[in-house]
Amino acid sequence: MNPEEELKQVAAEVNVCTKCALHYSRKNGVPGEGPINAQIMFIGEGPGFHENEQGRPFVGAAGRFLDELLAGIQMKREDVFIGNVVKCRPPSNRDPQTEEISACSSYLERQIQAINPKVIVTLGRYSMGYFLPNAKISSIHGQAMKVIGRLIVAMYHPAAALHQRSLRPIIEADFARLPDLIKQAGEMPEYQEKTSEDKQEPKQLSLF
Ligand code: URA
Ligand code: SF4
Repeated sequence: MNPEEELKQVAAEVNVCTKCALHYSRKNGVPGEGPINAQIMFIGEGPGFHENEQGRPFVGAAGRFLDELLAGIQMKREDVFIGNVVKCRPPSNRDPQTEEISACSSYLERQIQAINPKVIVTLGRYSMGYFLPNAKISSIHGQAMKVIGRLIVAMYHPAAALHQRSLRPIIEADFARLPDLIKQAGEMPEYQEKTSEDKQEPKQLSLF
């Protein structure tokens, strides 16, 4: 199967998937969308009300803000892939659960393999946690981390920036860095998560 067919196959499977309980509340699966040669993938959390109605990612208020952020860097939604860690709407937009994220992960992995993007931008905590389990968004947002050969850039969720005005300039500044990050993608060193040893205070040497 070529990458384009694989992407279509993933979308077809998502729409009939019963691998986790989220399928009970699914009206339409939201596999994600974008061109096969996209250089960037944006990965959000999960579909909300409007996404579940339309079967398309980021079509509500957060989506309009995402469109604005893209326009700010001379990009259009048609240029990028937009998806989510879970492909079916969590009831009442609750947070996706760990089991649901892992049940759904094979779809995301296949999409990443098929598109082979230069940069993956995670939108929000759950998406960041999928790639960088121990990272803190307030310390790493907007920075590129190379994880298994791929650049991951964690950003605040656009919906969070809509609710909390102080995040707006932060997410705008993080987006402004994306064109450069895409250019530098090949040269970045591999990111190492700190081990518990690194986090310990250096031991005081006894002089006596
Ligand atoms: N929020 C998300 O995380 N994903 C969507 O698709 C829409 C809103
Ligand atoms: Fe399947 Fe993912 Fe939907 Fe769960 S969220 S039913 S794993 S497609």
